[in-house]
Amino acid sequence: MRVCLALVAAGVLSGCSDFEVCEPVATSSLSAMPERLSGTGLFTDSSMTVLADDVRAFAPQFPLWTDGATKRRWIRLPPGGRIDTRDMDSWQFPEGTQLWKEFTRDGVRVETRLLEKFGPRPEDWRALAYVWLPDQRDAVAAPDGQDNAVGTPHDVPSAANCFGCHGGRESRVLGFSAIQLSYDAPPDLLDLEDLRVAGTLSRPPAIGFTVPGNDVERAALGYLHANCAHCHNQKRPDSDGERCFDPQNSLDFWLPVDRLGSPRDTPTYGAGTLAFKPGKPDKSNMIERVSKRESGWSMPPLGTEQVDAEAVALLRRWIAEMDD
Ligand code: HEC
Ligand code: HEC
Repeated sequence: MRVCLALVAAGVLSGCSDFEVCEPVATSSLSAMPERLSGTGLFTDSSMTVLADDVRAFAPQFPLWTDGATKRRWIRLPPGGRIDTRDMDSWQFPEGTQLWKEFTRDGVRVETRLLEKFGPRPEDWRALAYVWLPDQRDAVAAPDGQDNAVGTPHDVPSAANCFGCHGGRESRVLGFSAIQLSYDAPPDLLDLEDLRVAGTLSRPPAIGFTVPGNDVERAALGYLHANCAHCHNQKRPDSDGERCFDPQNSLDFWLPVDRLGSPRDTPTYGAGTLAFKPGKPDKSNMIERVSKRESGWSMPPLGTEQVDAEAVALLRRWIAEMDD
């Protein structure tokens, strides 16, 4: 809170709530990452279009909403590296793992984000965004983020804010997970079955996991898992630093693999009353918060400036059809 107020007083921020402040990232951590995207080894050619042989593309079945941006995602595991899946809800990646996510807005490559596992401990992750140059031939590290990057309305988050979302789960990786890859992905994208067959998982599940319910319930549970659960879950790793978007309430939208018997078995339904009133979307706190974009109040509080109208319609329908 004090940092926040000091920044407001200094005119750096126009206003903020205590939960919106994250620890600054150590300079040593940032300087360990290449200054340019070309230095990360994602692409092999000078026009940055040909992918390296050892990176594989993937897509989570329930994506995060980022104001309609198009995204591509890749992973590189170290040679022979296996993912420790003893905790199926929080995979641990081998040291040296890299994951990228590229954002295109209005046909322009705007930024590519990198997550890198640099050590053996679960918290040993570095995160940074690279903003594309206007000629689209490379992208440059942007530790402080950048608003309205490359002539688009897209805002690039600072390195500190990456952990506002990625710091909310022990794994740190949010979209390459048992739930998110349990679907039949197109052949050019990795899915859980590919990982099982390739022997990449330390304890492969016999079959994939199915989100329970009818189409509306499944879509709503998946949406809340992908867009809300990295913050709203009850297993957030402890941190004695700034609050950094830690909700400190009882909401839990995570979909643990052993709570998928029926929609009501999921923690999401335990969020009732605080987040929604069954049958009454207009009286549901959640609907109010996702229907606007007001700083310090709307949900999600980070990473979006435009209401996801399709999602609001989905969540309204889900709550309207819910029995008491
Ligand atoms: C608003 C929350 C939020 C913020 C802020 C955020 N991310 Fe993410 N990120 C996610 C979610 C959720 C996913 C998985 C869903 C998806 O990709 O659609 C993800 C996916 C990724 C991926 C693909 C690997 C994975 O975890 O699935 C990378 C790489 C990544 N983010 C890097 C970053 C970096 C670097 C920053 C900061 C510059 C950042 N992210 C900021 C929420 C966030
Ligand atoms: C980046 C982290 C983050 C994400 C993502 C996020 N929230 Fe929140 N949420 C918070 C924080 C922090 C608070 C508490 C705000 C405060 O202390 O006033 C909160 C509060 C809430 C509340 C109010 C609870 C109460 O006590 O009245 C609701 C409802 C809510 N969030 C729903 C959602 C939904 C639905 C989503 C996804 C669409 C979402 N949130 C995504 C961090 C997040």
